[in-house]
Amino acid sequence: MPGQPFPPGFLWGVATSAFQIEGAGTADGRGESIWDRFAATPGAIEDGSDARVACDHYHRWPEDVALMKGMGLNAYRFSIAWPRVQPLGHGAVNAAGLDFYDRLVDGLLAAGLAPMATLYHWDLPQALQDRGGWGARDTASAFVDYAHAVSMRLGDRVRRWVTHNEPWCIASLGHELGAHAPGLRDAALSLRVAHHLLLSHGWSVPVLRRHAPGAEVGIVLINSQVEPASPSVADREAARSFDASFNRWYLDPIFRGEYPADAVAERVRRGHLPPGDLPFVRPGDLAAIAAPLDFLGVNYYSRTVMSGLPGPGGEPAPRAVPMAPREALTDMGWEVWPQGLEDLLLRLHREYRPARIYITENGAAYGDVPNGDGRIRDARRQAFLAGHLRALRRAIAAGVPVAGYFHWSLLDNFEWAQGFTKRFGLVHVDLATQRRTPKDSAQYYRAVVAANAVPDDAQHP
Ligand code: GCO
Repeated sequence: MPGQPFPPGFLWGVATSAFQIEGAGTADGRGESIWDRFAATPGAIEDGSDARVACDHYHRWPEDVALMKGMGLNAYRFSIAWPRVQPLGHGAVNAAGLDFYDRLVDGLLAAGLAPMATLYHWDLPQALQDRGGWGARDTASAFVDYAHAVSMRLGDRVRRWVTHNEPWCIASLGHELGAHAPGLRDAALSLRVAHHLLLSHGWSVPVLRRHAPGAEVGIVLINSQVEPASPSVADREAARSFDASFNRWYLDPIFRGEYPADAVAERVRRGHLPPGDLPFVRPGDLAAIAAPLDFLGVNYYSRTVMSGLPGPGGEPAPRAVPMAPREALTDMGWEVWPQGLEDLLLRLHREYRPARIYITENGAAYGDVPNGDGRIRDARRQAFLAGHLRALRRAIAAGVPVAGYFHWSLLDNFEWAQGFTKRFGLVHVDLATQRRTPKDSAQYYRAVVAANAVPDDAQHP
């Protein structure tokens, strides 16, 4: 017996990003991106790998589209590589690069898959980085030109557009913590980067609307459900602070046209901002950033439980506290916490009222590989899916307007600084042969999609 059905017309898809799967690093005039440069830096990538070949999706996309069709999906979220479209990040468009996405979109539509295109999933043309990257306001203008070029070409067929994927990761992992490209560690710079990302988002919304009339336009944020480890004042303060910098620093400008005052004050205290007006904000910026959107894309992987006290091993506070034993965590070290998805969605709906929400990423890394009979029995991914889809269904029943779910990811792929050490795919990829094998979870997802409902526990553990 299937559980409560999802709403009619619900979008069921998978999500990927260009750099993580395409490979073909120099094909058809593609320029260098900051991730090519970063991956070539000794020590930057855990297994020393790079993404020059990755899943070779650039050449194998028809097979990948067929895999999605085989799962019965009706939607696909992918990203467009800016360095394919404009190898130097500005100026003339490289027609051959844009042709690839043109073919892909036609292939998707022919297979009954509604395309959702993300313009920026972290692969800035290196030439723009050399001119200051996202720290430079000019990069926001360059992004608008790029959005113009892509939407002129694909706007007649792509009905859902995402400007940016996870600006927090770009600003903080890339410019404050140094873990992602371009590998910088400068807190003040990361706040300017965040602003220019948001600005480029706001400025490109009207451009997308012009070239894709009637299409939906939104942004994708990484959101976590943040909780204090205890009701103590110190733990609640640690949770407030993390929520402010991780979630609200992006949600508040987009939905309210302002940066969160408590987080700004904290950044001033820590010396990341001067007192007074934010130095990078010009008149009109916040109004542009708060352009009304058709949807918010939510990437949810886990909750974050915060403590304001140092850890038993001397870990400095504030810190995230592990809430599950090591063996219960995913290979990323993330807790499996489906309830957090429901809690987060209720909160976003209550506090920000996005017109509509898509779960644009949700998934888990588990290293299951084929056994003797070639089958990949990834029962943990199946349980992850079932738990999160049930939580999602509860949020919808409580009134949250969620219109689709995109599982991360279709294929095992290049997991950024972790290289190929983490496997997020519903489909296993043998990197030596590029052979694709759907895992048990792909069959399970297929059954969910066919029923438009999560099967009962009794049938599917
Ligand atoms: C993300 C990225 C993905 C990651 C995934 C797992 O948006 O964080 O979109 O590229 O691979 O989140 O870490």
